[in-house]
Amino acid sequence: MMSKPIKPALVAISFGAVLAAAGPCDIYAAGGTPCVAAHATTRALYNAYTGALYQVKRAKDNAVVDIKPISAGGAADSAAQDSFCSGTTCLISIIYDQSGHNNHLTQAPPGGFKGPAANGYDNLANATAAPVYLNGQKVYGVFVAPGTGYRNNAATGTAKGDQAQGIYAVLDGTHYNGGCCFDYGNAETSSTDTGNGHMETIYFGNNKVWGTGAGNGPWIMADLENGLFSGVEVKNNPGNPSITWRFVTAIVKGTANLWAIKGADSTSGPLSTFYSGKRPNASGYSPMSKEGAIILGIGGDNSNGAAGTFYEGVMTSGYPTDAIENLVQANIVASRYSTSGSGGVSTSTTRTTSTTSVGSGSSKQQAQYWILRGVRELSGAP
Ligand SMILES: *[C@@H]1O[C@H](CO)[C@@H](O)[C@H](O)[C@H]1NC(C)=O
Ligand SMILES: *[C@@H]1O[C@H](CO)[C@@H](O)[C@H](O)[C@H]1NC(C)=O
Repeated sequence: MMSKPIKPALVAISFGAVLAAAGPCDIYAAGGTPCVAAHATTRALYNAYTGALYQVKRAKDNAVVDIKPISAGGAADSAAQDSFCSGTTCLISIIYDQSGHNNHLTQAPPGGFKGPAANGYDNLANATAAPVYLNGQKVYGVFVAPGTGYRNNAATGTAKGDQAQGIYAVLDGTHYNGGCCFDYGNAETSSTDTGNGHMETIYFGNNKVWGTGAGNGPWIMADLENGLFSGVEVKNNPGNPSITWRFVTAIVKGTANLWAIKGADSTSGPLSTFYSGKRPNASGYSPMSKEGAIILGIGGDNSNGAAGTFYEGVMTSGYPTDAIENLVQANIVASRYSTSGSGGVSTSTTRTTSTTSVGSGSSKQQAQYWILRGVRELSGAP
């Protein structure tokens, strides 16, 4: 590695250039809170990631294929899916973990609640039901109809007990319901309800059984088990707004008697903090009893009545700083989620430009080193 001090010119690199070249998990790693799970059917979440993003299974012969990014760090190769699934239908059978922890998500097994499949498992998502565009490139999200769910009860590296974690997810703000529970994050390893504080996930929807925010929802809340929480109060927290964005960046993070809920329009602007402070005013939430399994689209006990759409998300080790989360949000904005393919710029053009602007003729590895140093400088991380 190079040992030269940071050049002032590099610190002044525009946020756009830095963020186009460093993926969300590169940014979290630079902040000392690395991703321990990184799931996305839409794009690579590390600048250098070239591995499989997800697997689809087709109806006509049950054959499977892995879908990868078009280029390192790029958008998913949806054309490969379209070709493989031509003339038949496909389901998303695996959402791979890009973090290297093998925390892949597969069809959720029966738990406290049984899934609708014959064996009690949940359904898999229709692979073409949530098309969107990233920088003008068509990709597919994970469309969770009620009954759909993914899980990993043997995840490694995720937070346990009162350990710190961060979570973000990019979701469809217009696809939700009041069922329980469209969650992404940390849950019970037994697929059953083991008590207050045994989960810590993002929730999105307008369920009003437990917590609520302002208006009629939908809200970004946290499923902490035996309750969806919108803030410190167990029921209503009017500081947590109803969400109106098409693409929603949702954040829930937690550490010892401290947690936060944040949200943003994934296509523009900064994150807002809807709550940050002590754990809810109820027993069992401080200390937490996180178990470290990972769920998507369901509750901790496999409650599978909810609807939603997931595009990308991660879980980190450690409590990410607000500065690092701001950089992640800027990266999401730069990836240009859209419902329309017109007017986008290709990811590869953006990436080449930004690498050139910081590389000054050196290798890509060196450029990446400077980018991450720049992220550290800009975020105030050590
Ligand atoms: C999957 O979603 C697509 C797009 O909404 C739809 O045309 C198709 O009928 C769905 N397939 C199944 C099996 O539901
Ligand atoms: C909950 O905690 C908040 C913040 O400390 C406090 O203002 C509020 O009165 C508490 N509510 C209850 C019901 O204890």
